[in-house]
Order: sequence, then C-alpha cells, then structure tokens
Amino acid sequence: MSGNERVTKVTVDVIVALHEVLERHRVTEQEWLAALRFLTEVGRHDEFVLLSDVTRSSVLIDALSHQAEESSATASDVAGPLYREDPPWREPPVKIYQDYEGSSNGEVLFVAGQVTSTGGSPLADAVLDVWQTGPVGGYDVWDPRQPAYNFRGRFGVDESGHYEFQTMVPQPYTVPTDGPVGRYLELRGQHPWRPAHIHFKVDAGGHERLTTQVFFPGDPYLDNDTIGAVKPALVRPLTRHEDDRALAQRGLDRPFYACEFDIRLRTASGG
Ligand code: BEZ
Ligand code: FE
Repeated sequence: MSGNERVTKVTVDVIVALHEVLERHRVTEQEWLAALRFLTEVGRHDEFVLLSDVTRSSVLIDALSHQAEESSATASDVAGPLYREDPPWREPPVKIYQDYEGSSNGEVLFVAGQVTSTGGSPLADAVLDVWQTGPVGGYDVWDPRQPAYNFRGRFGVDESGHYEFQTMVPQPYTVPTDGPVGRYLELRGQHPWRPAHIHFKVDAGGHERLTTQVFFPGDPYLDNDTIGAVKPALVRPLTRHEDDRALAQRGLDRPFYACEFDIRLRTASGG
C-alpha cells in the first residue's frame, strides 16, 4: 500500500470514529469550538507529544510498533518530549553532569552494561544517548541552576560493547503542568507524576535503533506512571556501595549506587 493510500485509509477511519463520538454525545457547537481552541493551544505550546503521552497514545503506538519483536531484545519504551538534539559527546570516564546548587543532596550513580546483538555478539560500534532529570529541579531545560545539557550525553562503548557512565539517581517528577495539557490533566483528575527513570537511545551498525527507559524498584509511581510507560523488564535494581575500598576506587567520599543494564539490539530488517 502506498503512503498516500495508507494516510487516506487511516484518516477516513479517524473521521468516522470522531463523527460517531460527536453524535453519541450530542456535542454542541460551543463544545466543539472549545475543543478546537484547546487543540490550537496545544500546538502553540508545542504539547502534542505531551498530549499523546498523557493520553497513553504513545505507549499504545510503542506496543503496536514493537509487539512482534524477539523477546530476547531489550524492550523499547516511549521517548517523551524532553529529548534534545545534539547532546555533547562524553569521553571516558563518562560523567553526564556537573554539580549545581542543591545537587549535593543527590546520590551518585554508576550505570553500566554491555551492548550486544540478540544473539549475544558484542557491538563495539554502539553509541548510547542518555537523558534524565537531576536529583533536584528536573530536566536542565526547566532548571536555570543547571548548565545546558546537564544529565544528557552521547558516548561509545569499548571493544567488547561495555559502557559505563556516572550520573546521579533521578527522582520522580511531574510532566509539565503549566500549559493546556496541564489543564486537561486537572480536568480529568489525572496526576502528573512519572516514576524516576533514565532515557536511552542506542544505535549500532546493522541493528535497529532502540529507544527505551530504565526504572528503579520501590518508586511510588512504578504502578502509577501518568503516561503508563513502565515495563517490568525495564526495572533494574540499584545497589548501594559504602565500603571504604569501593569509595576510594571511585574517588568518592560518600556512598554511591550502581545499576546494571545490558542492552540487546535486534538486527535491522533487511540487514
Ligand atoms: C519524559 O519521560 O521525559 C516525559 C514523558 C512524557 C511526558 C513528559 C515527559
Ligand atoms: Fe523523562
């Protein structure tokens, strides 16, 4: 089916479904105009991805796009609207943040793992691109105390596909609530919280790009993510290290956490 045919087919079905809803609820002129004004505002505030996320449409599209994948591949997850293009390249030892006012109360975290194919072959040309919130203030784009691209970065792996980066344990946070989508959430009585997580995009030659997120056990929003994006396979334990030798090895003077996250990529279709 050509692109145009598919657009026509899906669009016709969307309009039929929409008309059915308008009829069933006897939507008034006033209500319809209010709905159109709301969508106009969503566009003006660049919140369509956010709307897709909080209505759980993004999670549905992710499931539809990846449901047939091999189970040994790392599970995908939605990207959300907070990705920034062209994050800085970080050389080893990779550290993706600078300290800022308030961050000293946060906990240092080392995330490490191996990138392989689903068959277990190391992918030495893999590139990871990660982004997350800091321990306070949320994403860099929301927090004037943080330098640009704080808690973001791209980096490679070693010849056996291993990576490691130093970050801080992220905290649960609320999706933006100061725009039209915030008003929608309020109206629906839907809370705006997401469990703490780290986003990943992972690329390697001949393999499909993986976009995913990692979550941590015990988070109060694991079963209650406002965008419904938590997958049990993506919840990874945090191990606390506090003995003097481990601290000395890391050059740290306070306990830190470690998290293992191995990543298995599918072979590109046709590759
Ligand atoms: C995020 O995880 O960055 C995110 C996802 C959905 C809405 C807002 C933020
Ligand atoms: Fe996020």
